[in-house]
Amino acid sequence: MLFKVMLLESTRVTEQRVFHTLWEALAAHDRMTADHCRRVSVAAFELAKAGGLSAALQIEARYAGLMHDLGKIGLPESVLNKPARLDAFESKRMMGHPAWGEHILKPFSHLPLVLAIMPAVRNHHERFDGAGYPDLSAGESIPLLARLVAIVDTVDAMTQTRAYRKGLPLEVAYAEIARCAGSQFDPKWAEIYLASKGYIVEDDLARAA
Ligand SMILES: [Fe+2]
Repeated sequence: MLFKVMLLESTRVTEQRVFHTLWEALAAHDRMTADHCRRVSVAAFELAKAGGLSAALQIEARYAGLMHDLGKIGLPESVLNKPARLDAFESKRMMGHPAWGEHILKPFSHLPLVLAIMPAVRNHHERFDGAGYPDLSAGESIPLLARLVAIVDTVDAMTQTRAYRKGLPLEVAYAEIARCAGSQFDPKWAEIYLASKGYIVEDDLARAA
């Protein structure tokens, strides 16, 4: 019994170290994306909580959010921060980031928490109507945590100020979630998100001011 507890404890510590190291690597490559992931992590956790998911799923939502854009580590700065529309080649590379993130995590998939969040990392750009990527999954065949991350990711991306554009007000992002409920987003989770008014982290408030 004691051995089992110690093993579980050491697995938890290893998981934390893996996530910490990967986030730090992403931050060294692109601080804005890493900060975005940190905010999405908090918001995904809060949405999971608002929707009554188990404590274990709330933790998975937190790390799914933290790691969702890990694959952007494979994109050059010229693509990540391009102040214009991406060309076809750049778009293709950008659309590869969810699968690339999953690929980076794969060597750590013996760790339960890593294994649990890999589908969310791979599928966070799927759409509820099946028109997303990379797997063209639809409805509830999209992993649950991917459906949660899709909502909070969109709100953060829309409200985030970049070097080349000012972030939109939170109310505009909320309206977009309502407008795209059932097409881009899981309508049930969009409703839960909007009912809980989302979880506004400090950075959001600063950006919305
Ligand atoms: Fe993404």
